[in-house]
Amino acid sequence: MSEGYAVRTVALRKVFTNGVEVEALRGVEMAIEYGEFVSITGPSGSGKSTLLNMLGGLDRPTGGNVFVDGIDVSTLDDRDLASLRNRSIGFVFQFHNLLPEFTARENVMIPQLVSGSKKGRAAERATDLLTQVGLSDRLEHRPYELSGGQNQRVAIARALANEPSIVIGDEPTGSNDTETSDRIYDLFRDLNRNTGQTSIVVTHEIELAERADRRIHLVDGQVVDT
Ligand SMILES: Nc1ncnc2c1ncn2[C@@H]1O[C@H](COP(=O)(O)OP(=O)(O)OP(=O)(O)O)[C@@H](O)[C@H]1O
Ligand SMILES: [Mg+2]
Repeated sequence: MSEGYAVRTVALRKVFTNGVEVEALRGVEMAIEYGEFVSITGPSGSGKSTLLNMLGGLDRPTGGNVFVDGIDVSTLDDRDLASLRNRSIGFVFQFHNLLPEFTARENVMIPQLVSGSKKGRAAERATDLLTQVGLSDRLEHRPYELSGGQNQRVAIARALANEPSIVIGDEPTGSNDTETSDRIYDLFRDLNRNTGQTSIVVTHEIELAERADRRIHLVDGQVVDT
């Protein structure tokens, strides 16, 4: 049933119960094939980030299932979930989330060191990835010495560090100007084509969303036809 898909959700529900009760996801059904590049759109508050957090194993559903690479993530304990996350999933947040006291190269090395890579190997791969995102001359810069778009590209390189099979971006183009957003989005798409990774990207820009293989539109916690 979930086999053959990179990501699949079945009757996925999420209810937040702090203060007022919010039904953020109301029975989301979706299936994403290996290698697909899918964009997710929808109004503010429609549940996009909540959905990505479930797919990325950052939060747990209230009901239903999430299968990642055929594994029902709700059956995993916290340790196995963390390990799946570090191994198989690369997450790019809306705000880059880089560690401020570390250089671009170190930020890209850290997830590799966490998963047991040797330092030399991690440094080499970090240099290579930062070169791919056009930052070969910014390796030793710290986040505050980089522009918003450059930090976002470091975050993309970091997400790719452990060769995840799935890359998830929550508005990875961030609060950049149109031209920078465009470039970041294209970079995401090119990386998807070159590596065969599965990519799932939230964007509020319909024009960018339409460059994906397919668009999934959320309204009020449910998938609707586009
Ligand atoms: N941790 C939380 N606790 C309580 N309610 C939450 C929490 N996270 C999200 N929500 C609620 O769930 C709903 C969906 O939020 P979500 O962040 O997924 O929306 P979104 O589609 O990503 O919006 P945006 O485009 O503004 O980022 C919103 O109504 C929000 O208030
Ligand atoms: Mg959001």
